[in-house]
Amino acid sequence: MLEKREIRSLIDTALAQRKSAYAPYSDFRVGAALLAGNGEVYTGCNIENSAYSPTNCAERTAVFKAVSEGVREFRAICITGGPGEEEPSDFCPPCGVCRQVLLEFCDPDFEIILAVNREHYQVYTLDELVPAGFRL
Ligand code: THU
Repeated sequence: MLEKREIRSLIDTALAQRKSAYAPYSDFRVGAALLAGNGEVYTGCNIENSAYSPTNCAERTAVFKAVSEGVREFRAICITGGPGEEEPSDFCPPCGVCRQVLLEFCDPDFEIILAVNREHYQVYTLDELVPAGFRL
C-alpha cells in the first residue's frame, strides 16, 4: 500500500502532466503518473489525432514510455482528467483499453489512484477494476 505522502506526490505530478495534454478534439485533458518498482515516476498525457483512432490515452503514454526504457515493474498509477483547462471536478477512471494494457504489466495488487485533487481521491487495486481479466 502506498503511503499518503507518496499518493500526494503522484497526484501533484499527474495534475502537472495534465497541462501537456494534446486534446484539441475532445478538450478532455488527462494526466497520469506511473510509479515504477525502481522508484522512478513515468508521466503521460493523452495525445489526440485528427483521424481520432490513433489517439493515445494518458495511462498508455506513461506505460509505453516506461516499457520503452526497459522498465516493466510498476507499483501504482495516478490518473486525473476532465474537460477544459480548469482543475478536474470529477474522477477519470481508465478506459477498457488502458485497463488491458495495465493488466499486461501489473500485478493484481497494483494500485490505481483516481484523483480530483490532493484531498479528493480514490484508491483501487487493478484486480478491483479488472475482475476476471484476460491474461495469457
Ligand atoms: N482518455 C485518457 O487519456 N484516458 C482514459 O482512460 C480515458 C480517455 C482520453 C482519450 C481522449 O483523448 C479523451 O480522453 C476523451 O476520450
